Amino acid sequence: MSQILHASKRPSKILMMRLFISRAMIALDLRKYATIKPATLQIEHHPYLTQEQLVNWVQSQGIAITAYSSFGPSSYVELETEDSKNTPLLFEHPTIVELSKKYGKTPAQIVLRWATQRGIAVIPKSANPERLAPNLSVTNFDLSGDDLKNISAMNRNLRFNDPMKFGEPHPIFF
Ligand SMILES: NC(=O)c1ccc[n+]([C@@H]2O[C@H](COP(=O)([O-])OP(=O)(O)OC[C@H]3O[C@@H](n4cnc5c(N)ncnc54)[C@H](OP(=O)(O)O)[C@@H]3O)[C@@H](O)[C@H]2O)c1
Repeated sequence: MSQILHASKRPSKILMMRLFISRAMIALDLRKYATIKPATLQIEHHPYLTQEQLVNWVQSQGIAITAYSSFGPSSYVELETEDSKNTPLLFEHPTIVELSKKYGKTPAQIVLRWATQRGIAVIPKSANPERLAPNLSVTNFDLSGDDLKNISAMNRNLRFNDPMKFGEPHPIFF
C-alpha cells in the first residue's frame, strides 16, 4: 500500500478513500500480516452491486461488512459520471417503488433494510435533516425473503466508485 501511495500524484486523501474499495484480494493479503484482525471491511454495496461472493466470504471470516454508497448512483450524479448518467436512480426503479408502496416505507428505507437484512452495516449520508431521521429508522420492519431476492436480482455488477474509470489504473484494482 505504501508503494501505491508514493506512486500516486493525487492527494493522499482521495487515494486512501479509493484503497478502501477493497476486494477479497486485499482482505486476504491483510489477513497474512495484520496483528489485529480487521473488524470490518467497507465496500461499495447497493442493489446494482450486490457482491454476493465477497460478502459471504468476508462474513464467514468473522469480519463485518460496512456498505458505502448504499444508494448507488445518487451520490455520483453531482460528479456527472457516465455510469450515474446512464443508470436509473434506485429510488425510481420499479422494484424499489413497488416495495416502497407495499411496505409503506420510503425507497431509501427499502434499500437500506435490504442491506441490513443481509447483515450489512450501512452509513447513508444526507445533508437533508428530513432524510436523516428516516434513513436511520430502518430496523422496525422486515422485507420478505422473496422481496429480498427481488432486490438482489437488480444486480448489474455496476461499481460507481471505480478507480479504473477515474484514471487510476493500478493493478490492485484489476
Ligand atoms: N470507503 C470509501 O471508499 C467510500 C467511498 C464513498 C463513500 N464513502 C462514505 O460512505 C458514506 C455514504 O456514501 P455516499 O457518500 O456514497 O452516499 P450515499 O449514502 O449512498 O448517498 C448519498 C446521496 O443520497 C442522497 N440521499 C440520502 N438520503 C436520501 C433519501 N432518503 N432520499 C433521497 N436521496 C437521499 C443524498 O442527498 P442529500 O444530501 O440531498 O440528502 C446524497 O446525494 C459517506 O460517509 C462516505 O464518506 C466511503
